[in-house]
Amino acid sequence: MTADRMLDRLDRLARDATLEAAERWHARAEALDWIDRVWHVLAHEAPDATVRAQALRHRLERADDMLHRRLRAVVRAGYGPAVFQRWQQETGLIDGEGYDALDELLAGVLQLADPGPGSRPLEPEMVFYQPTPARHALDMLVRSRVGPRDVLVDLGSGLGHVPMLASICTGARAIGVEWQPPHVEAARRAARRLKLERVGFLAQDARDADLSRGTVFFLYTPFLGTVLREVLDALRLEGMRRPIRVCTYGPCTRIVGDEAWLHTDGPTTADRVAVFRCVGQGSD
Ligand SMILES: C[S@@+](CC[C@H](N)C(=O)[O-])C[C@H]1O[C@@H](n2cnc3c(N)ncnc32)[C@H](O)[C@@H]1O
Repeated sequence: MTADRMLDRLDRLARDATLEAAERWHARAEALDWIDRVWHVLAHEAPDATVRAQALRHRLERADDMLHRRLRAVVRAGYGPAVFQRWQQETGLIDGEGYDALDELLAGVLQLADPGPGSRPLEPEMVFYQPTPARHALDMLVRSRVGPRDVLVDLGSGLGHVPMLASICTGARAIGVEWQPPHVEAARRAARRLKLERVGFLAQDARDADLSRGTVFFLYTPFLGTVLREVLDALRLEGMRRPIRVCTYGPCTRIVGDEAWLHTDGPTTADRVAVFRCVGQGSD
């Protein structure tokens, strides 16, 4: 894009008062992303324009802040499901691995923060923190039919947005089990701020976790190899006692798909959540 066209676009965005409307969070995210991308070119070709770009950025961030604050109040009051489900329908395609405006929105509402120091080294076969894109987490909740009577367990829960989202959207109990104590502390703080009383986080190795209360287990490839093997064996024992669903995302889906005690009628590609049920316990 030439500098002239950038200036044109900047003017159009600056004049567009509708960008501050709550429901235009998607357009705001796009505009903020565009400002970041063209900033260096603007600074070089039209330095005066960076002042206008900065003013626009502040305006859009203020509108987002207000929306996040309002949504936190909605969540605290227990009206989360309607809002998040509507936005899920607006986000469009679910396939693909990247992050989008819904992730920005969710991070703002949950106030997901840097976990700070104190991380433990990961053992071999353990996978570092990376959040499940929000649209995939919502897709998982819908397709595994998580409801208020379920207990969702996120094995390797990171900063905890999947258990929080599960509780906000469905009223389910939700537990996050996470190896990194600072991540657990950050997740607890976020859940407390939102008064999510049905969400808890445990700083634990998933191999030592008590799985007996879970009805839906989520794994965004938290570990592989022998660690995954040990956890899958424990889940198989749970599945012999009661119906459970095992939901996976990322490369571990292929490995979980080879388990003879699990089956799915849905997709098993690494870029969609797969929903498995125990053989003989109904279908996806
Ligand atoms: C790919 S991230 C997934 C995070 C989260 N489930 C999500 O979907 O956003 C994997 C997480 O698993 C954690 N982890 C790795 N090995 C673990 C273990 N043995 N027990 C518990 N957590 C573990 C990592 O610290 C990391 O936060």
